Amino acid sequence: MFAPDGPTFRELFRQAMSSTRGGYDLLAPKFDSTPFRTPDALLQCVVQQLVAGPSFATALDVCCGTGAVMGHIKPLCQKVVGIDFSPGMLAEAERRLASVEGGDVGLVRGDAMALPFDGGFDLVTCFGAFGHVLPPDQPRFLEGIYRALEPGGRFVFVTGDKPRPTHPAFWMSHGFNAAMKVRNALFSPPFVMFYLTFPLPVAVARLVEAGFQPEVRPLGWDERPGLCFVAAHKPS
Ligand SMILES: C[S@@+](CC[C@H](N)C(=O)[O-])C[C@H]1O[C@@H](n2cnc3c(N)ncnc32)[C@H](O)[C@@H]1O
Repeated sequence: MFAPDGPTFRELFRQAMSSTRGGYDLLAPKFDSTPFRTPDALLQCVVQQLVAGPSFATALDVCCGTGAVMGHIKPLCQKVVGIDFSPGMLAEAERRLASVEGGDVGLVRGDAMALPFDGGFDLVTCFGAFGHVLPPDQPRFLEGIYRALEPGGRFVFVTGDKPRPTHPAFWMSHGFNAAMKVRNALFSPPFVMFYLTFPLPVAVARLVEAGFQPEVRPLGWDERPGLCFVAAHKPS
């Protein structure tokens, strides 16, 4: 549907009618040929921002998927760990990261809402996955990330302001969210995926509530000039 080697409409429909985890297991072999994977051009801007900041030896990528983010971070540190609840996505990550030079790789099957880490990381990242975190779950999601970070470590991600009603993205996002609400009301298990749940003002407020000191800069990606690079610091 998105590319010749990407999923068909029928496959995407099957995925959306499955559970969130089951859906990603189905999509995993073709995930990198969908727009749901974070683009390399965006991640190159993230790397530029990262290397301009404090150095890091250990990194954790939450909801790592097929390892898009880990592939960019692996050359920059001693160890990068990815956590995801989909075995299918983790298998793809293992395959693709084997050919990337850099530090050690760890892949953990687990739930981002109950991260099993107590310190150990200088950097935590999360890309393309806030839509899977319902607003009432945001505090415990951030608590787990805070706990996984060493004092002085940072949580890095990108987000932006909500699109205005004059922008097509506003109507597409709200239309998609409405369809998912209907789907989840009629069918079980739910597929948890909603757009616009973690825009910049919400993100900053939640980070401060969780004890972080957020720093916000323009990401510098020409394709989406409104996107911001957020580095949320855990106090030393
Ligand atoms: C859209 S993909 C993004 C993957 C990757 N971070 C990227 O940017 O390309 C979302 C990923 O989040 C994972 N995920 C969603 N909810 C999760 C949860 N509660 N715990 C762990 N992983 C989760 C899915 O399995 C999927 O791999």
